[in-house]
Amino acid sequence: MMSTVNAKKFENAHTTAAVSSGIGMIIRQKEPVNLEFPFDKLNSFITPNDLFYIRSHFQAPELTTDYYQLRIHGAVENPLSLDYQQLREFPSETRTATLECAGNSRIFLVPQVEGAQWELGAVGNAEWTGVPLRVLLEQTGLAKNACEVVFEGADRGTPKEQPIPPGPISYARSLPLAKAVRPEVLVAYQMNGRELSRDHGYPVRLIVPGYYGMASVKWLTSIQVLEEPFQGYWQTSDYGYWDYIDGKPVRRPLSEMALKSQIARPGMYEVIPAGSDYIVTGAAWCGHSDVSEIELSTDGGQHWTAAEFMDPAQPYVWRRWQFLWHVPQKPGQYTLAARAQDATGAVQPEGHNPSHGTYVINHPLPIDVIVR
Ligand code: MTE
Repeated sequence: MMSTVNAKKFENAHTTAAVSSGIGMIIRQKEPVNLEFPFDKLNSFITPNDLFYIRSHFQAPELTTDYYQLRIHGAVENPLSLDYQQLREFPSETRTATLECAGNSRIFLVPQVEGAQWELGAVGNAEWTGVPLRVLLEQTGLAKNACEVVFEGADRGTPKEQPIPPGPISYARSLPLAKAVRPEVLVAYQMNGRELSRDHGYPVRLIVPGYYGMASVKWLTSIQVLEEPFQGYWQTSDYGYWDYIDGKPVRRPLSEMALKSQIARPGMYEVIPAGSDYIVTGAAWCGHSDVSEIELSTDGGQHWTAAEFMDPAQPYVWRRWQFLWHVPQKPGQYTLAARAQDATGAVQPEGHNPSHGTYVINHPLPIDVIVR
């Protein structure tokens, strides 16, 4: 059990919600802009806008609200085209959701793999405001055989990962209709109470709580309802994984975020005084369940002890946690790792599943520290 004294240390963490002063981002790629949050600086439930990771495949387009148009078309009864003002006139909702890039923590894979070498910070938690997608789909009506909805951004370019398409393409991703009409899916225009910044999809983006970040299409200009599954580049080639039907491999799109926990502090090779009391902190999240338990190991995964949550369980939202570590007197290198369990009883896997390629890195991630 944590003492009240330790719990008190974290009171400020709840009240410093959207302050980012004195902290910068880690550059993963200069152009297109790809930046990650220094996860060891995690000190608030809501990630301030300036510290929310940026994952963009192409240069961010310069859209303006004056000329913005959102088309909703395809297998619908009444296609619709909305300008920005018309979109803002629909009733809005605000929802908190954690977004994690499917490639977050890729740097932990051994041997090293291709792709942006994300550490722990391609994840963040924000309040998103916008129009529930299902409200817009109610306006257009759906064809009888509608099965998927594809979302297209205004950014365009030629992807670098093989197989390379023959010419420039725009970023597009689909959702199964069953997910698209769930109440949490938003056509969003605000993040933590402010207009979206250009890098985060200004003026309008999709937010798909529970799914990896690749589903939350930025600079959203087209919503197309389909009568057959979408086979686009970011649906099959990239952001896909191998599943098996009767032993035969088939390509499927990544979707729900896998159960995961990360240590924020201490950081890798942090030197910790022998015999001291150290508060280990971190966060845990998952897709469509709730994170229900969190444990910490200080001996490389041989023994696990329950840690304490700092935030309540809420759908689609991370829970920060803390653990009071009585640091041993014996100097040396110690390996820390956190492991979460969800409400279905599932726990994080012991290792990375190669069927997921360079994505879904959700095994307990070892953080080595030096006790001295
Ligand atoms: N939408 C467009 N149009 N273009 C993109 O490159 N990247 C996706 C998604 N939406 C992307 C996009 C990926 S891979 C992620 S993880 C999230 O946006 C990141 O959102 P953020 O940059 O606001 O954190």
